[in-house]
Amino acid sequence: MDLMELLKTRRTYRRFEQKEISKEIVDEILVAARLASSAANKQPLSYVVIQGKEKVDKVFSYTRWAGYLPPEQGQPKEDEQPTLFIAVVENLDINRDCDTDAGLAISNMTLAAWNHGVGSCMIGACNKPVLSEMFGLTENQKLHTVVAFGYPSHVSRIEDIEDPADPNAVKYYLDEKHDYVVPKRKLEDVVRYL
Ligand SMILES: Cc1cc2nc3c(=O)[nH]c(=O)nc-3n(C[C@H](O)[C@H](O)[C@H](O)COP(=O)(O)O)c2cc1C
Repeated sequence: MDLMELLKTRRTYRRFEQKEISKEIVDEILVAARLASSAANKQPLSYVVIQGKEKVDKVFSYTRWAGYLPPEQGQPKEDEQPTLFIAVVENLDINRDCDTDAGLAISNMTLAAWNHGVGSCMIGACNKPVLSEMFGLTENQKLHTVVAFGYPSHVSRIEDIEDPADPNAVKYYLDEKHDYVVPKRKLEDVVRYL
């Protein structure tokens, strides 16, 4: 896929087909994370891969989806859940300021996945204490994010935000086909030339 088309269509997906992601694709997602830039090249991040229905179900139960929507619309149902989670873990002994590294790694992972038609949702709203214990994290390790993956069973498209002053304008919603619509600020509202 053309890079700009990949970036345009690599949206957040929240409902998935119950179809496993192959080992080759999972490996490529992880390689993409490894290739990301890192402040001072310290590479403080590591990854926990969660696959298999039982384990994925367990992690899923500690995640919250689509905060702008009522749960009956935004929370994936039993037959819509992701088939893979990858947890991003910070090693605090290496670097205590990992946010940019994590963002870059997650971006690489989700793009590498989407290149194979695998959609994703980054989950900040999860029960980190419980999941950290489940993943066996040690004292010097901190759970940054879990990223959910799966083959999407819906479409997601972007639209322009017409009124940038309206605080509600950023809220994504479902259209009549139950597909996601994600409002984005117009370029002229976010760019200025000196
Ligand atoms: C740091 C971060 C945390 C997020 N956490 C969640 C989350 O907990 N649950 C969820 O459903 N989506 C989450 N998202 C997805 C955002 O809601 C999504 O990126 C946003 O609505 C824009 O949609 P887009 O990714 O398709 O552009 C998160 C995204 C980011 C960048």
